[in-house]
Amino acid sequence: MERKLLIAGNWKLNKTIREALELVTLLKRSIRETQTVEVVVCPPFTALSETAETLLESGIQVGAQDIFWEEKGAFTGEVSATLIKEAGAAFVIIGHSERRQYFHETDETVNKKTKAALKNCLTPIVCVGETLAEREADKTFLVITAQLKGGFANFSADEMKKVVVAYEPVWAIGTGKVATPAQAEEAHAFIRKELSKAFGSDVAGTLRILYGGSVKPENTSELMSQPDIDGALVGGASLEAPGFTEIVRNAALGRRPIEEL
Ligand code: 13P
Repeated sequence: MERKLLIAGNWKLNKTIREALELVTLLKRSIRETQTVEVVVCPPFTALSETAETLLESGIQVGAQDIFWEEKGAFTGEVSATLIKEAGAAFVIIGHSERRQYFHETDETVNKKTKAALKNCLTPIVCVGETLAEREADKTFLVITAQLKGGFANFSADEMKKVVVAYEPVWAIGTGKVATPAQAEEAHAFIRKELSKAFGSDVAGTLRILYGGSVKPENTSELMSQPDIDGALVGGASLEAPGFTEIVRNAALGRRPIEEL
């Protein structure tokens, strides 16, 4: 089944509004593959609105890095799905390992946030992945299973069809240690199998699973040529236009059957 590649840049806590606009102005000119690859940038909340405005009709979409699950009320400091949508976001990253690690996100909060995103017609990019200690203790699949079970508890097959999952092994994030294509493919195939058991092969066959963790222009096409890798969630390498543009281009090349290259 054909799954359109998705390359998302997670800018994390980087870029002022001015810097964000400089970057997307360059990306608008340099990225040519938006017909074959879905491209998303995820700036900090403060730059969402202006970034989305600058990218109107460019084919590049915008996402937020988190949301709170309530719509509104006495929740100081939080931002809802409605607010990011109004600011121009179509996507939202949920349950990133940095949020799990530093801000006590749990599978239960991931579940509520993902529901809130879907209710507001946003595409959630839900992150799962094991730490180095968990991998070394042979717990990778146990950890991923628990994250999927908890994160998607009480989800219907119809809801799941609208979700994107990102596999981000924590030991590969910001470390320069990328998972080998074989390691990543093993985890992605496992995730797809688990989702197939829980929601059916139809859902598992159409749902996109992105890889994240030290994705660079040099390793993109090999990762993207794996059968169960449907895109990338890119951190550090999404902060500069030339590198991110090359990642998008290499992703498109990597997906094409070898004989067409
Ligand atoms: P790096 O690409 O900097 O390793 O970050 C990956 C990531 O966390 C994307 O969400």
